[in-house]
Amino acid sequence: MKDDGYAVRAEGLEKRYGEKRALHGFDLTVRAGTVHGLLGPNGAGKTTAVRILSTLIRLDGGRATVAGLDVARQAREVRARIGLTGQYAAVDEVLTGRQNLEMFGRLFHLGGRRARARAAELLERFDLTDAADKGVGDYSGGMRRRLDLAASMILTPAVLFLDEPTTGLDPRSRGEVWDSVRALVAGGTTVLLTTQYLEEADRLASRITVIDRGRSIADDTPDGLKNRVGGDRVEVVVAERSDIPRVVKVVARVTDGEPESDETELRVHAPVTDRVGALTDVARTLQDEGVRVEDIGLRRPSLDDVFLRLTGHRTETTQKEAAV
Ligand SMILES: Nc1ncnc2c1ncn2[C@@H]1O[C@H](COP(=O)(O)OP(=O)(O)OP(=O)(O)O)[C@@H](O)[C@H]1O
Ligand SMILES: [Mg+2]
Repeated sequence: MKDDGYAVRAEGLEKRYGEKRALHGFDLTVRAGTVHGLLGPNGAGKTTAVRILSTLIRLDGGRATVAGLDVARQAREVRARIGLTGQYAAVDEVLTGRQNLEMFGRLFHLGGRRARARAAELLERFDLTDAADKGVGDYSGGMRRRLDLAASMILTPAVLFLDEPTTGLDPRSRGEVWDSVRALVAGGTTVLLTTQYLEEADRLASRITVIDRGRSIADDTPDGLKNRVGGDRVEVVVAERSDIPRVVKVVARVTDGEPESDETELRVHAPVTDRVGALTDVARTLQDEGVRVEDIGLRRPSLDDVFLRLTGHRTETTQKEAAV
């Protein structure tokens, strides 16, 4: 069991909160040494899954192992091998970054000297040395997230759970967190990352499980998932409905896919592989032919596109139903 190459195995997980089924037959396998993305909208059950796997809450049914250990029967052993960064920052605002890490070290019984050494090492690794002695209250969102990551790495866990590590961060901070995650995995840690962003899962994960209303509805590589959804698209918005047929013709000629049009939103879009090349070609050809366009651009598939394709409904529907 321990050496089957999987850091996480969950089968048929069930979790109820009163009448609400937060997890309902949830399955997941995560290969050791990889980043695995758990992608889903608000209320899909991501945090519940992470809490069960990190032994914070009990499951009502099904079975899960982490690092080969049963989360229900060997919770203490599991806890010794994992790290967790929750959806909301756990660090203390009043303390400095260094003091926070030293405090976590002591909580894990490292002893003063080892806690100090480990704190210094992690501050360096997460590029926080310059800000180490500033109060966390003055940290940017990205710095705070990095400190969170550092805190969950005090004991070099075999498996690290990151619950929406970049939600609410600006693009630069998000990039910094992504770099930190990559560095962790290069050091041998397995990461299970929950996210609402297809792009984030695509950038970091080698495999993605899509979760909807407490169950896994897809498990694939990022490319596999994007292919199922249709990948990147070039999108043209026209000024007048009567221009749509001409634009469809141009887009069909210049791109390799079948264009689709939306008469109410005055949009024509088609799948592309060479993103920038296709955009340039479409823009130039439309201009050469004198077609007036309102807007033109590239669109990456979003979580919403994934849901529409996989479930036939949009994520808003999921949210509403999840709220019932
Ligand atoms: N302690 C709780 N008591 C009652 N219901 C809960 C509790 N925790 C979660 N739920 C419900 O269980 C479902 C799954 O919630 P969960 O927090 O796991 O979703 P999530 O995918 O993490 O969502 P988000 O993206 O908003 O963090 C939701 O419908 C939520 O309202
Ligand atoms: Mg959550």
